[in-house]
Amino acid sequence: MDARELKAEAARIALGHVESGMRLGIGTGSTAEEFIRVLGAKVGEGLKIVGVPTSERTASLCRALGIPLSNLDETPELDLVVDGADEFDPALNLIKGGGGALLREKIVATAASRMIVIADASKRVEALGRFPLPIEVNIFGRRATEIAIRRAAEELGLSGELKLREKDGEPYLTDGGHQILDASFGRIPDPRALSLSLHAIPGVVEHGLFLDLADAVILASDAGVETIG
Ligand code: 5RP
Repeated sequence: MDARELKAEAARIALGHVESGMRLGIGTGSTAEEFIRVLGAKVGEGLKIVGVPTSERTASLCRALGIPLSNLDETPELDLVVDGADEFDPALNLIKGGGGALLREKIVATAASRMIVIADASKRVEALGRFPLPIEVNIFGRRATEIAIRRAAEELGLSGELKLREKDGEPYLTDGGHQILDASFGRIPDPRALSLSLHAIPGVVEHGLFLDLADAVILASDAGVETIG
């Protein structure tokens, strides 16, 4: 199976966890979009859910497929969120934000009672950090924030390139109007310490370490589909 088929397979299994009446967080990215497609088909067959999208991109696809949407002001508590990830480790800690939606994804995941991650085998790692860590920063004072991030990382023995994410030759802007620095720190031995240090920097809006949020990972590989957690 190619990567898309594997993602679609994980998405189909995740759909089995969705029950009528649920308030459902809906993730962002190519794997989440496979889930949105099967969810849309099921809604067409009569499944009653209300979805809270984690990005404008996800919201548009949901609307196109007829999935009823709400937001966290109207629906502040969710039963489940289904989302993709860039990496997950054996403790089900994640790196997310490759698709630029990390802030809304983390807010939605925190509002949900359960988080199911759908992934293909390329996302499984022994330790987080192979994928550059997305750090969402306020535009104001970005260079100063960059220096503060570098210092905080160095105190934890981490170093590496901090690359401003771009799209069409311009700085990429998130749905919240912020920018993203992709940090190539390499292996992150203590994600919790890094998370705390990054949160202590005022210009950091959020980072892509999702710690203690995922309850299960549905992992599709050529060997079949495995639910971890
Ligand atoms: C978006 C994300 C995505 O879930 C993550 O980047 C994985 O994307 P894909 O399913 O396309 O590999 O965190 O912000």
